[in-house]
Parts: sequence; structure tokens; C-alpha cells
Amino acid sequence: MDQADVVILGAGAAGLFCAGEAVGRGLRTVVIERAARPGEKIRISGGGRCNFTNLATARDRFLSRNARFCASALAGFSAQEFVAMVDQAGIAWHEKTLGQLFCDGKATQIIDLLLSRMRGADLRLGTAVTGVERRGEGFLVATSAGPILARQVVVATGGKSIPKMGATGIGYDIAKDFGLRLVDTRPGLVPLTFAEQDLDLCRPLAGVSVEAEIAHGGGRFRDALLFTHRGLSGPVILQISSFWQPGEAITVDLAPGVDVARQLKETRGQAGRVAVATALSRLLPERLAQAIASEAGLPEARLADQPNAVLDRLGARVNRWVLRPVGSEGYRTAEVTLGGVDTRDLDAKTLQARDVPGLFFIGECVDVTGWLGGYNFQWAWASARAAGKAL
Ligand code: FDA
Repeated sequence: MDQADVVILGAGAAGLFCAGEAVGRGLRTVVIERAARPGEKIRISGGGRCNFTNLATARDRFLSRNARFCASALAGFSAQEFVAMVDQAGIAWHEKTLGQLFCDGKATQIIDLLLSRMRGADLRLGTAVTGVERRGEGFLVATSAGPILARQVVVATGGKSIPKMGATGIGYDIAKDFGLRLVDTRPGLVPLTFAEQDLDLCRPLAGVSVEAEIAHGGGRFRDALLFTHRGLSGPVILQISSFWQPGEAITVDLAPGVDVARQLKETRGQAGRVAVATALSRLLPERLAQAIASEAGLPEARLADQPNAVLDRLGARVNRWVLRPVGSEGYRTAEVTLGGVDTRDLDAKTLQARDVPGLFFIGECVDVTGWLGGYNFQWAWASARAAGKAL
């Protein structure tokens, strides 16, 4: 029968990186990938330029039932270490914002970097893993192309996000088969969806972008908010979606750092003939200002005619806009899957299952999920390095 020192399940970010580690240790390494090409999510990531890490990586940038779990792996492989690999491969990059590093060119450069590190590994594309079971001291990996005997197995099959790209959730099944616990999964970094009454405001504003702040469920983000035909999107919504639970309302500040009611009152004192919409448009994009003035029944009204109570209401509408999302777009468009293999059953240093020597879980299938901004790839690299060292 086919035999290997280590079989890695999944040729995504974590699996490819881990294969490089295994080959570097001289191990006979087989990588099984269901898709026809490796690293498909890397290819489409960051709008095709791959936000491959974040210089601000720290454990507080990750969601997990055990907030401390990721610290050890992250400390073992820093963002700077990945940048050094990128530099060595001659890949040009730039910092976009908030420590987010992107390729100047195409994301495929990162895939090429990962493939070149794992030269010598046996990469089997178009092959699906169907299950794993104990066989003596090792494991029997069942695949669509026949079984493989492995001394060690690394599960790097990712989460449930974007099923049309090959996400299967099989990593969770394997964990369950070996008695590991699971933390409930749900889509993260995903656009939220809204009821008709909210859409009435959002739809005509499709394409308008504004810097907004949302604090919710322990997360606080200030970034771009985008009005779309389907509701609200943009980085600030994606970030907060990971902290949001169905049924909860969110409060959006459309002019963070500006006390809008106070500003309107000041303007009224200095230039009362100015229209409400014009005064708002000094603080907000013009179309949004116009929409908010119209919604308040003041499309043409002058500031001088408005009592404090009206300006306070307008201020609250801008600084504390309360919305109740009806749901999210789900795994179809979610960038990540929250939850997954329960970290209580994994060793934080090695990502090895505590009660199943030789079985490792890395990357997105583990209950560690980063914020938007390159953190999820950094977790993929760091968890792969941690497991790789223990192979
Ligand atoms: P990943 O999903 O990458 O890989 C798992 C692999 O396992 C896949 O190739 C899959 O086909 C394979 N597989 C699944 N089931 C199998 C089976 N039964 N048999 C064989 N193979 C199987 N993150 C970031 O840090 N910066 C960014 O710019 C972006 N951008 C981004 C954009 C979009 C559109 C998405 C959807 C996601 C991102 N992300 C991101 C998130 C990032 O892509 C994600 O966190 C990592 O790819 C996770 O890496 P893994 O290797 O764990 O899973």
C-alpha cells in the first residue's frame, strides 16, 4: 500500500506551508487536495493581491473560545518572518493600511512561493479525502484515489466558507471521529443582510462609502462602510459580522469623532440660512446627507427653522444609527468560518490532538479566527509552522 511519513489533508494556505516544513525535515510528504489547483483561496484573496500578513498580529486580533490558545503558535512564527520569506522570493509588496501587507503584483506569487518551499512533496490534486482511521501506530487515510498509510496526519482542510471553491468541512468530521470536541461554526467576515425598511435607505445609496465606527460584542472597528443594493458591506461591516449574533441590533456611527448635533447647532448659530442637507454634507458624503435630511422630512429645510430637539434627533441618526440585521450572506460569501475544532483538545504548542498522538489540526479548521486584514493567513502560516516543528 501507498505509504508516507506525513499526509497533509488540504493544499490551502496552512497545508502548503506545512508541507514546506515537513519536506524541510526530510519527511516523505503527501499532500491531498480535492480541487484541481492548490491554494485557490490565496489566489482570490485580497482582491487578487493577497493580504498575506499583518504587522500588528497579536492574540487580541483573533476570536476563539480560548483567547490565549493562539499565542504560542503566533509567537513561534511572526509576521516579520513571513515578510522575510516574501522578500527572499523577490515578491514586491506594500502596506495598504493598518499593517496590512499586500503583493504589488498577483496573489499567485504567494502560491508559487509556497510550492517552491515544498519541492519534493507529492502533491495529489483532484483527490478527495473521505476519512481517516487509526491503523497500528499510524493512520489509514481514505481518498478517492485509494488508501494511504501515514505515520502522521495533518488536517488542513479549512472551514465551510465558499463551498463552490471546495470547502467541505471534512476536518470537523475527522475531529469528531477521533473524539475531539467542536465549537459551533458560523460564517464570519461576511456582509450582513437587512429588512426591507432598511434597504429602502441603502439601495438608492448603493456605491456610497463613508468611514464609520461600530462597537459590538466586544469588537470595535472604524473603517469604510459601503452602501449596496443588498444592504451594507465594506470592511467595518465584515469585521463586526464576526462579533454579531442573529437577532442582535448594531449601532453605527456614521461620523465617528464628530458630535453631529453640536456641529449642526453651531452652524445654525453662525449661518442659519444654510439648508440642513448642506450642513450635513459637510460631515458626510453628499448623497448620504441628502438621504438623511429627506428621511427626516427636511429635504429643503433651513437650519435656522429647526429647534434643538430636531437637531438632536438628526445627530443621533448619524452618530447612533440602530439597525437590526436579519441575517448574513452566509458561507456563500463569508471569508472565514468561526468556531471549529475545540482548542481544549489540542496542544497549543504543536496543534496536535491531545489524545491522538500523530494527528494535527491547523489553519481555519481550528477554533481560531482572525480579524479582517491578513490575520487569517498569518494564523495559517504560524499554526503550520508549530505543527511542522513537531512532525
Ligand atoms: P483553505 O480553505 O485555504 O484550504 C483548505 C483546502 O482543503 C482547500 O484547498 C480545499 O479544497 C481542501 N479540501 C477541503 N476538503 C477536502 C477534502 N475532503 N479532500 C481534499 N481536500 C479538501 N485571509 C487573509 O489573511 N488575507 C486575505 O486577503 C484574505 N482574503 C480572503 C478572500 C476571500 C474571498 C476568502 C474566501 C477568504 C480570504 N481570507 C483572507 C481568508 C483565508 O483565505 C483563509 O483564512 C485561509 O485560506 C485558511 O487557510 P486553510 O489552509 O486553513 O484553509
